[in-house]
Amino acid sequence: MTRTIRVDPLLPETERLAPAAETLRRGGLVAFPTETVYGLGADALDAGAVRAIFAAKGRPVDNPLIVHLADYSEAHRIARVDARAEGLFRRFAPGPLTLVLPASPDVPGEVTAGLGTVGVRIPAHPVAFALLSAAGCPVAAPSANSSGRPSPTCAADVLEDLDHRVDIVVDGGSTSLGLESTVIDATGERLVLLRPGGLPVEEIEELSGPVDAGGSGDRHRSPGTRYRHYAPRIPLLLWDGTEEESRRLADRFERGEALAYMGIAPPPFPCAEEIRFATPEQYAASFFQALRRLERSGVTRIVAQWPGEEGIGRALRDRLSRAAGGR
Ligand code: TXA
Ligand code: MG
Repeated sequence: MTRTIRVDPLLPETERLAPAAETLRRGGLVAFPTETVYGLGADALDAGAVRAIFAAKGRPVDNPLIVHLADYSEAHRIARVDARAEGLFRRFAPGPLTLVLPASPDVPGEVTAGLGTVGVRIPAHPVAFALLSAAGCPVAAPSANSSGRPSPTCAADVLEDLDHRVDIVVDGGSTSLGLESTVIDATGERLVLLRPGGLPVEEIEELSGPVDAGGSGDRHRSPGTRYRHYAPRIPLLLWDGTEEESRRLADRFERGEALAYMGIAPPPFPCAEEIRFATPEQYAASFFQALRRLERSGVTRIVAQWPGEEGIGRALRDRLSRAAGGR
């Protein structure tokens, strides 16, 4: 049985979190909110507990996990933190940034997938902070979805995929950013972007100079990018705003297809379900939850507007194109 513990998202009650912290310390699995998405946590230094994460998600074992800490001053417990990494944490932690750093020998190979490096992140969420502080151990946590499914941004999404597979879900409401952290490889001379995310790369470049973009296609450096990701149960189609594409979609509707639409612009074709966002930030925040809602709604195809590339748009484009599987 999975137990749900509801806490106040802004002022989490310490005594309610105590069983979750205790569960982490004794090797159990606890899903918890961060500012990006919900994570599926276990004690990062307990190899058996970490293996249980992979089993619960059905995750390929060669895809390494991010380790979460309450404060960046603890990062030296699990990684080699040089002056550049320290500067990045000073500026952006807590926040939606994961730095891949040389791993300390204490970190089990299950966490690093044998790469010798470890992703380190300090989440900016009161519930994550309170839980990590109470647990007192570094917490390895991938997104709390079944491998390949849209990432979970609320407790119900976690339960939809992982009910009975985790000990506790800490329900701290919906996450605010809605897309995962930006993953930066900081082991080499130049920083490399492994995954665009909640922290725009431009902000990192302002502090640390150019960030190489080559990472996300590099299978060895960024193992997570080789797998099918974020796939809804019904096909997702990207709409680029051209008239030609609009006409093709209108034809589909005429032929009786139940189309759903999500995006910022009004849909230029009739559709059965419509989810509109005021800003790219709201689009990003609700994207994964919207996918899950629409796949339950009975439509046969989701059409999503292709957003601009500025700011959060880069990460949103990455998730959209993966969810569409190239369509
Ligand atoms: O916002 C987030 O990052 C969320 C929350 C829970 O913190 N976590 C998350 O974890 O998205 P996950 O496992 O779903 O994605 C982690 C990504 C994967 O693409 C993985 O390959 C990459 O980070 N990664 C982790 N450790 C790495 C390492 N040592 N070297 C290269 N890539 C790494
Ligand atoms: Mg994930």
